Amino acid sequence: MELPFSESYKIKMVETIRKSSREEREKWIKEAGYNLFNLKSEQVFIDLLTDSGTGAMSDKQWSELMLGDESYAGASSFYKMKNAIRELLGFEYFLPTHQGRAAENVLFSVLIHEGDIIPGNSHFDTTKGHIEFRKASATDCTIDEAFDTTIIHPFKGNVDPEKLEKVLKAQGNKIPFIIITITCNSSGGQPVSMANLKMVRQLADKYGKMVVFDSARFAENAYFIKMREAGYQDKTIREIVLEMFSYADVMTMSSKKDAIVNMGGFIAMNSKELYSKASVFNIMFEGYVTYGGMSGRDMNALAQGLYDGTEFEYLNTRIKQVEYLGSRLMEFGIPVQQPIGGHAVFVDAKRFLPNLPKEQFQAQTLAIELYREAGVRGVEIGALLADRDPVTRKDRYPELELMRLAIPRRVYTNNHMDVVAAALKNIWDRRETITRGLKIVEEAPIMRHFTVTLDLA
Ligand code: F0G
Repeated sequence: MELPFSESYKIKMVETIRKSSREEREKWIKEAGYNLFNLKSEQVFIDLLTDSGTGAMSDKQWSELMLGDESYAGASSFYKMKNAIRELLGFEYFLPTHQGRAAENVLFSVLIHEGDIIPGNSHFDTTKGHIEFRKASATDCTIDEAFDTTIIHPFKGNVDPEKLEKVLKAQGNKIPFIIITITCNSSGGQPVSMANLKMVRQLADKYGKMVVFDSARFAENAYFIKMREAGYQDKTIREIVLEMFSYADVMTMSSKKDAIVNMGGFIAMNSKELYSKASVFNIMFEGYVTYGGMSGRDMNALAQGLYDGTEFEYLNTRIKQVEYLGSRLMEFGIPVQQPIGGHAVFVDAKRFLPNLPKEQFQAQTLAIELYREAGVRGVEIGALLADRDPVTRKDRYPELELMRLAIPRRVYTNNHMDVVAAALKNIWDRRETITRGLKIVEEAPIMRHFTVTLDLA
């Protein structure tokens, strides 16, 4: 008999989680203004709000915490991180920041000016926020296949070369750089192929532009290249990662994802000139260049996390778990973005609740239903997140209206995944009865989804 697949680690420390009753959850979610961000974590049984900063560190990472060097300048922890970045990612210079959006803030302060256009593949919301905050705009050049959840395409994070070249040709003088998000969170944790990264580099060179990788889930992207792209089966994850980054000038990193730490980020580049310019903003916004927004111990854990996170066995365990949840949902006929992404399963709320008007926030309604059903917290990636157009202030309705179930790294077992699947199946079976969505009561002027208050429509 062939031995079944199993995790590449065992568990050394546990944290108790608690089930609640439906009555309790009804009360809590109402008090939370139907916004899942407003819940207390103890009101949640299985928390799939995000895979960001919610992972379980390894014993090696925990031991690194004890070795942290908390010197203000020149700490050994800084050099540990520098060596890991040089060895694994191929960049000579780096600036630590407190998280990914801080890296965006620092880098964009150097590179983006009012009126600029930043093409890329479905920019993440903080990336778009930092672009629009500077009165610049983001142009989405993702392939069309990404926006149809029923189409199977191995690399739905890919950039459409024709869309990209069209903006480069027409608006080239306004474009400081192209940004590629690996994996592409907004299109469903979908990877970008090596061939596509290479193509972006070639177009960037043709038009004299820089390429930035938003790299939060770069290792998961490398895993998909190894599993799906011809010519990479026999390469190690680290070889693939190095080739990927060879096509970028700069990377921003939210280390809370693929470096498996609870807090941290960085910018890395090979240009000394860009490093010097970005250093000025890093010192202003984050901290001195050898610690940025991080303590020494956290830089140590991050450096170790980059090694942990680029091991094939770890990635295989991780991505197979996400796939497991996805396949359970597909067995029940529940519509999900296919193929299943690297960090999350994205449920297609438009196809789940077709009778609900988009103005009543289908994905948010579904996420609230799932919380009510089983205390499972997902997150809306739809019209609430898409926010209003900064100029017209009209609601933007994205092509995809998704509920994301993001799986923290090394945290839950497949039994937890079975609970999530069964809960969604129950909702799927009574989906026709869900005829009332949500309406906004109060919202912030930018990135409203975090703090929005809603009520039943
Ligand atoms: N880029 C991508 C692709 C991300 O997914 C995120 C965060 C960021 C940048 C910003 O990083 O949170 O460290 O400031 N994504 C989280 C999520 C919040 O839930 O997907 P950050």
